[in-house]
Amino acid sequence: MKKKFDKYWYYRHSVQSPELDLRFIRNCYRKLKQKEPYVFREDFCSTFALSCEWVKMGPLYKSVAVDIDNRPLKYGKEQYLSQLELHQQKRIQVIKSNVLKLNTAKADIISALNFSYFTFKKRLELKKYFLNCLKLLNPNGLLVLDCFGGTQCFERNEEQTDYGKFIYYWDQRHFDPVTHHSLFYIHYKRKGEKKREKAFIYNWRLWMIPELKDLLEEVGFRKVHIYWEGTDKDGEGNGRFTRREKGEECESWVAYIVSEK
Ligand SMILES: C[S@@+](CC[C@H](N)C(=O)[O-])C[C@H]1O[C@@H](n2cnc3c(N)ncnc32)[C@H](O)[C@@H]1O
Repeated sequence: MKKKFDKYWYYRHSVQSPELDLRFIRNCYRKLKQKEPYVFREDFCSTFALSCEWVKMGPLYKSVAVDIDNRPLKYGKEQYLSQLELHQQKRIQVIKSNVLKLNTAKADIISALNFSYFTFKKRLELKKYFLNCLKLLNPNGLLVLDCFGGTQCFERNEEQTDYGKFIYYWDQRHFDPVTHHSLFYIHYKRKGEKKREKAFIYNWRLWMIPELKDLLEEVGFRKVHIYWEGTDKDGEGNGRFTRREKGEECESWVAYIVSEK
């Protein structure tokens, strides 16, 4: 019998790399602050894979996972949280809430990854989010965002990646040059089956690094750093991100934006 299609499983195995994200985030904090971060808040957490990885680092590590949608939270509880040891589970707080309405305990690091804050299309809304993050960070805390762009994002395009047993499609269906509102889909195709369209749908505004940097500084972050990805010998991203003042023109890029309180 064919296994039921579990979209979060496919997402986990095509889009996410919690161990790599956490290694970057933790090293960043250590380098900038010369100490160890312990409290991590994962905004837009979906199935909170990062929060589950975070508490595995030791008995002092705590995480707070926030998402507005109960479905991924329920999945995360059943599939990831339940796999942890009891003392690890106790160090994770899962909150169903709009990130704009949070009033959590203070964190050393807040992350909003996989571009989730692109959901805020108005500058005032995004400003409110950044202000709230600033308020709920410990002194010396970091806000870690990622961002993507490149010439390819300014037109309709679809990329596919073959993972052997399934194909992952990143489909940018629409881009509006006036508003930067953009529509994205993730599709999957399991071997020998038809393509499953629109497993995930994102209605976003494509924010650009300079406007994000300006806004983060405007709300009061002391320093905003851009971490740009290095390239391998074929010119492809090599997964190593370093602090840079300037980027490079390319068809498609991903960067981290790290802001210091
Ligand atoms: C792109 S997915 C998150 C992916 C996850 N952060 C990761 O790295 O793979 C976006 C998530 O943001 C959540 N979300 C959207 N708007 C939100 C809001 N205002 N407050 C909290 N969560 C929100 C959605 O429910 C969804 O689970």
